[in-house]
Amino acid sequence: MPVLAEVVDLTKTFTLGRGGSVVPVLRGITAQVAPGEFLAVVGPSGSGKSTLLYCMSGLEPATAGVVRILGRTVGALSRSALAALRRDHVGFVFQSYNLIPSLSARENVALPARLARRRISAAEVDRALADVGLAEQAAHRPGTLSGGQQQRVAVARVLALRPDIVFADEPTGALDTESGAQVLDLLAGVPGDGRSLVMVTHDLQAAARADRVLVLRDGAVHSELRNPSADDVFKAITC
Ligand SMILES: Nc1ncnc2c1ncn2[C@@H]1O[C@H](COP(=O)(O)OP(=O)(O)OP(=O)(O)O)[C@@H](O)[C@H]1O
Ligand SMILES: [Mg+2]
Repeated sequence: MPVLAEVVDLTKTFTLGRGGSVVPVLRGITAQVAPGEFLAVVGPSGSGKSTLLYCMSGLEPATAGVVRILGRTVGALSRSALAALRRDHVGFVFQSYNLIPSLSARENVALPARLARRRISAAEVDRALADVGLAEQAAHRPGTLSGGQQQRVAVARVLALRPDIVFADEPTGALDTESGAQVLDLLAGVPGDGRSLVMVTHDLQAAARADRVLVLRDGAVHSELRNPSADDVFKAITC
């Protein structure tokens, strides 16, 4: 089966201010995500984890190198073709939930499908919310929900569209242990059946659930671990 997403010699730099200094953030990263795989990305703060996820999911353009999603080269796509590719195949869960405050949980879940002009029935939306344990809160606005509940709405919003690949950037970073475990369990249910999960995390136990762990340091892949224990991940980050 073809890889779902890959980056080849990916470089990303940011320029500070107008004509200011150039900050290299990703320095030639090559990585692939296979169908059905759970890939975790770990590394110190500032090592480029979020930037890698943004580039790999087509949210941010690469400075150099190649990004492919489902075999399509992201840099060669028009803005609308990229939007369609992302809309139809890619889901993204942010640390900060990114829900629309004026919409109910149900409306938040239904919104991407409506934007994609995909039919999603009220029953499907309610099922997606029930799957994350929020059937009772469907009519609630995000402001009336706890952080853990808001993140579960954000996960339901992504999962309702059954994307081929889900990217999650520290999805449990702002949550207490119990809510974090619930969100992690939901996301860990994605890989399989040809669908994949790429998750940035600081949580060693969460990383240890992955099939493969990429350890970033200073914008480069420092090491790669297969089926590691939490201890293996800890050693790879610290040594
Ligand atoms: N828009 C931007 N402009 C300038 N520099 C940026 C920008 N985005 C990120 N950076 C820099 O790139 C580096 C990597 O940032 P990134 O957010 O990818 O790190 P991270 O590994 O996700 O860190 P954390 O664990 O704290 O979330 C940092 O030094 C950051 O300051
Ligand atoms: Mg980050």
